[in-house]
Amino acid sequence: MKIRPMTIGDYDEVFALWQITSKRALSAADERSQIERYLHRNEGMSQVAVIDGKIVGTVLAGHDGRRGFIHHMAVLPDYRRRHIGHKLAQRAVEQIAADGIDKTHIFCYQNNETGQNFWRDFGFEKRDDVFVFSFDNHKEILS
Ligand SMILES: CC(C)(COP(=O)(O)OP(=O)(O)OC[C@H]1O[C@@H](n2cnc3c(N)ncnc32)[C@H](O)[C@@H]1OP(=O)(O)O)[C@@H](O)C(=O)NCCC(=O)NCCS
Repeated sequence: MKIRPMTIGDYDEVFALWQITSKRALSAADERSQIERYLHRNEGMSQVAVIDGKIVGTVLAGHDGRRGFIHHMAVLPDYRRRHIGHKLAQRAVEQIAADGIDKTHIFCYQNNETGQNFWRDFGFEKRDDVFVFSFDNHKEILS
């Protein structure tokens, strides 16, 4: 198994993987042009796990200059519980830390128990003191 940085050339295979593993989390932000911009802005941080030439796992990783963020942590069902996810997350956190960022956040659906167990096992601490508020930038701003 090899872990290497994701490139835009991986997009079709990675997007097909996400449709199996992460359908609920997909949005317009996952279109090719958006992912290309994300990879460019966060060069070398997002990773893929490859076995016999096949991409079996992914992680998108980046930072905003202050905090790191991880998205689409995913491993194909047939390859789970082999610590592939752990190794991908480890590489992602290492890349973020190497840029001088002290803390990394992830978003996890409340009913995703597998995800929560995975992140806890890795050492992420669940926050009970914050809510996530999101704003659609195309919406009219109330004045
Ligand atoms: C979450 C996910 C990426 C884990 O990938 P993985 O390669 O199977 O994870 P690992 O083998 O590295 O697991 C590391 C540890 O996490 C925990 N863990 C992982 N999957 C688990 C599960 N289904 N149930 C309980 N604990 C689990 C365990 O402690 C595990 O260590 P162990 O196998 O020695 O007990 C994978 O299940 C997945 O793609 N799920 C669908 C997408 C998703 O929900 N992503 C997370 C979004 S927040």
